Amino acid sequence: MLLNRTKSKALGEALDISNAIPKNSDITIRGTDDYSEITNSDIIVITASTGVYLKNRNEMIDEQVKMIKEIGKKIKKYCPSPIILIISNPIDVLTYFFQKETNFCKNNVIGIASSLDSSRFRYLLSKKIGVKQSQISDALVLGEHGDSMVPIFSKVKIKGKNVREIIDSKQKEDISREIRDFWKSLRNLKSRSQFGIAKNTYDVMESIIKNQTISFPASILLEGEFGEKNVCMGVPIKITSEGKIEIQSIDFDESEQKLFKLSAETIRNTIKSV
Ligand code: 2OP
Repeated sequence: MLLNRTKSKALGEALDISNAIPKNSDITIRGTDDYSEITNSDIIVITASTGVYLKNRNEMIDEQVKMIKEIGKKIKKYCPSPIILIISNPIDVLTYFFQKETNFCKNNVIGIASSLDSSRFRYLLSKKIGVKQSQISDALVLGEHGDSMVPIFSKVKIKGKNVREIIDSKQKEDISREIRDFWKSLRNLKSRSQFGIAKNTYDVMESIIKNQTISFPASILLEGEFGEKNVCMGVPIKITSEGKIEIQSIDFDESEQKLFKLSAETIRNTIKSV
């Protein structure tokens, strides 16, 4: 079911997507503006936005928070315990307010963004070092889906070697900046980012539907994990084949630990400012 507040948009998008259904598939798609049509949905992806931001993801925060709370109320009326994937920005803040509004099981409300930042990390490393992406492992970006995001260099392996043996601090800074600003390049070149987030979200949905295990970084409410409370931010999570969502631990190095803390504070301050 594809839901949009503008019915014609929902109908049009659904009609277009219906042409992409593979011939051996049982999938159907319908468009609607009526929340009662999502009754008892198991997974809901929220992509809604009140407008276009240009300088940073927090630009329309008040309108976005109001919007996510309204969406939360409507979803709760029709769906008792769905898994929610939020990709509307600012993701960490909206994931927080959505969970507080609905009081859905905290681990079932996930902001999908750190996996997108991690895809960008992998892509930039591969381009700069001149290796294939398949030769890179554990390139994770955690924390805020925003300027305080933390690329975890200490864990990255390239052909089995730690990346810190391969790149210098200048390259590290350049890569960190480029991951942070990646969305701006997309904004300038084609007005939005689209395929990266779509694929990252698809992978999560596919794993849940097919009862497969998947591990990826995502924004989730922390209640003491990593020493943080009352904040949603990107951390490694795992969805088990039974559909259970668990937060995974990770060892940071000292500087990453500090940056992660700063990122948590940044998000908490933004939450307080609303
Ligand atoms: C992105 O990072 C805009 O949050 C979106 O592509």
